[in-house]
Amino acid sequence: MTQPLTLIATAAMGLEGLVKQELQDLGYHDLQTENGKVIFKSDFAGIARTNLWLRTADRIKLHIGSFNAYSFDELFEQTKALPWEDWLPEDAFIHVVGKSHKSKLYSVPDCQSIVKKSIVSRMQDQYHIHSRLSESGVRYKIEVAILKDHVTLSIDTTGAGLHKRGYRHEQGEAPLKETLAASLIKLTNWTPDKPFVDPFTGSGTIPIEAALIGQNIAPGFNREFAAEEWDFLPASIWDDAMEEAEDLANYDQPLAITGSDIDHRAIEMATNNAMEAGLADLIEWKQMNVKDFKPKSDVGYVVGNPPYGERMSDRDEVESIYRALGGIMKDFPKWSVYMLTSHENFEKHYGVQASKKRKLFNGFIKTDYYQFFGQK
Ligand SMILES: C[S@@+](CC[C@H](N)C(=O)[O-])C[C@H]1O[C@@H](n2cnc3c(N)ncnc32)[C@H](O)[C@@H]1O
Repeated sequence: MTQPLTLIATAAMGLEGLVKQELQDLGYHDLQTENGKVIFKSDFAGIARTNLWLRTADRIKLHIGSFNAYSFDELFEQTKALPWEDWLPEDAFIHVVGKSHKSKLYSVPDCQSIVKKSIVSRMQDQYHIHSRLSESGVRYKIEVAILKDHVTLSIDTTGAGLHKRGYRHEQGEAPLKETLAASLIKLTNWTPDKPFVDPFTGSGTIPIEAALIGQNIAPGFNREFAAEEWDFLPASIWDDAMEEAEDLANYDQPLAITGSDIDHRAIEMATNNAMEAGLADLIEWKQMNVKDFKPKSDVGYVVGNPPYGERMSDRDEVESIYRALGGIMKDFPKWSVYMLTSHENFEKHYGVQASKKRKLFNGFIKTDYYQFFGQK
């Protein structure tokens, strides 16, 4: 295998720009942004560093090859021409997943099975194995992605998606993905010296992600990644990345982060999750109706994911919550407020037109991220 490698950081639609910024901050500059992904050049160490550090990406894939294919024969032959033995040991457990969009080869199960046969055939030739491969070793998840007849083959380095930080053991009814929570924070210009409040905290995802950002703690420090089991990667890349993360963490940064929720069970969950993340003393948790919220300082940030009122029966209550928050915040013009909701009339009930709006998906729900900038 050769370095530099090509890696693909995947992201939810609309968040590619944040992933790109994070990669630049990590020192990667040869970047190409496409729908739902950022492609970049890296050395081996980058596999560990990006998995450990990226807060807004979904996963990191190792790009193996790309080509056009219009028939199963072409898919088989071009897949077989790639140097799979550089990456896969002879006992690799080969798990192929796939997707196809606007392409002649549209049957995903057939594409998966052709790719698997082709890789197996290449490995048998290269490792001089005349029987079946044992596939008794480490699992490698290989993706065949076809878009407009262009095939991309990659191996997943991440394992469970990067949103699985390892701290959220408990969650409420509509938890935000950790990657989206981190994105919401990154889209503000909050700095860790400013007060930060999430008044609809649920399982505490937003304040926990804010504390991790505030102290520059790598979000992946508490979990494992698929590529840690890969023999051809030097074990030192993981140790070095962890050491770098330890060096860069700023545990002395004071924070003023509060999470509150009307539901005391949410506060219990959030407290337990923060403890799991090692942030127990850093975040203040409070059971409180948002209608009783009163900022304690002149300047600060409110970032939240309030109830959306998707059931008609909840509409009135949700709208009264928005009105109450708008009423409170109008007396604190130096506070910035950021709310993610699918309610189309949020601004009407909040009582102020947003400085900026951004369309984002919360899972499959189309939402807007309403941003009200505080006065300077
Ligand atoms: C969409 S959930 C937030 C999920 C959270 N971001 C997470 O990741 O778990 C909305 C939260 O608002 C809370 N809530 C509903 N009405 C409220 C009110 N009047 N004041 C404060 N919190 C309220 C609910 O208990 C719920 O936990």
